[in-house]
Amino acid sequence: HRPALQMEESSSLRRSACRAKGGTPGFKVAILGAAGGVGQPLAMLMKMNPLVSVLHLYDVVNAPGVTADVSHMDTGAVVRGFLGQVQLESALTGMDLVIIPAGGPRKPGMTRDDLFKINAGIIRTLCEGISKCCPHAIVNLISNPVNSTVPIAAEVFKKAGTYDPKRLLGVTTLDVARANTFVAEVLGVDPREVNVPVVGGHSQVTIFPLLSQVKPPCSFTAEEISYLTDRIQNGGKKVVEAKAGAGSATLSMAYAAAKFADACLRGLRGDAGIVECSFVASQVTELPFFATKVRLGRFGVEEIYPLGPLNEFERFGLAEAKKELATSIEKGISFIR
Ligand code: NAD
Ligand code: LMR
Repeated sequence: HRPALQMEESSSLRRSACRAKGGTPGFKVAILGAAGGVGQPLAMLMKMNPLVSVLHLYDVVNAPGVTADVSHMDTGAVVRGFLGQVQLESALTGMDLVIIPAGGPRKPGMTRDDLFKINAGIIRTLCEGISKCCPHAIVNLISNPVNSTVPIAAEVFKKAGTYDPKRLLGVTTLDVARANTFVAEVLGVDPREVNVPVVGGHSQVTIFPLLSQVKPPCSFTAEEISYLTDRIQNGGKKVVEAKAGAGSATLSMAYAAAKFADACLRGLRGDAGIVECSFVASQVTELPFFATKVRLGRFGVEEIYPLGPLNEFERFGLAEAKKELATSIEKGISFIR
């Protein structure tokens, strides 16, 4: 009799080989920080995604437990766990998509920027690994402060000579999910029928919903605009306060990250018309990074859409957003330079 572990490994290998032979589209996805509050439900959702053939779960703690758990789901993806920095390179080698929710969440009274001290170094190390082991992977960056961690990642990749701005995407999908939910509530419709572009960045006033461009077209009173903008900008804070020290949004974030990752994978597969909001290297404004609608394709970000017509409230709001964004972007860049 072969030992259990060997049996499990060889059956995983047999499954990978079958899939390659059958030619079924399947992508290799790694989650870094997979044992965390966001990482665990995200691991479950990515194991359910039929576009994923291999799922690597990396963390500095508890990765084996999460891997054993998720691997028992009878879906196609082969799951492998990786624990600690010594296994980072094995976790990353050959990946098509790397999703990063690694690093600490905030507690009541903290801003996302207060996480810079803890998370900046973590992102640097993980991105150095990406440059070395899977420089062509698409990177979905979730860890806060996103307005600084995306510039940090860009600088690490530039230093390593592997930077491709089309492949580095800050995840702002939760802002869109919140905006769709809250706008649908005001309109009294199903949130799945609503699409609100949220632009700028991912913190406080930089989260800016363009309520004049909601689809399907609709109009709001000045009072509704003020209420909705405030609620969307403070969605994260509301969850942090409700969790009272036990962390920030995890389940809604995992949902949003899985939705965004699925869009990236469909783009990689060559599907047409995949459009999502994301914080990316951009020339839409004078800032080097900005969140807008982008079209995803085989190479990552294939088109960045302009802001479109803005009303006075939106022009003023975006001017405020840009001031804060400029500082956060510069902070990220200087951390590496
Ligand atoms: P968490 O503390 O529950 O989980 C973080 C995980 O990262 C832990 O398992 C931890 O062991 C791991 N980790 C720490 N250092 C690591 C390293 N060097 N390498 C790999 N893994 C490491 O936190 P969470 O609630 O999952 O939140 C994770 C991050 O996501 C936070 O920064 C949070 O602010 C951010 N977040 C962003 C959004 C967004 O909209 N972009 C939404 C929610 C949360
Ligand atoms: C969110 O928007 O929920 C996340 O950025 C987490 C946070 O700290 O608010």
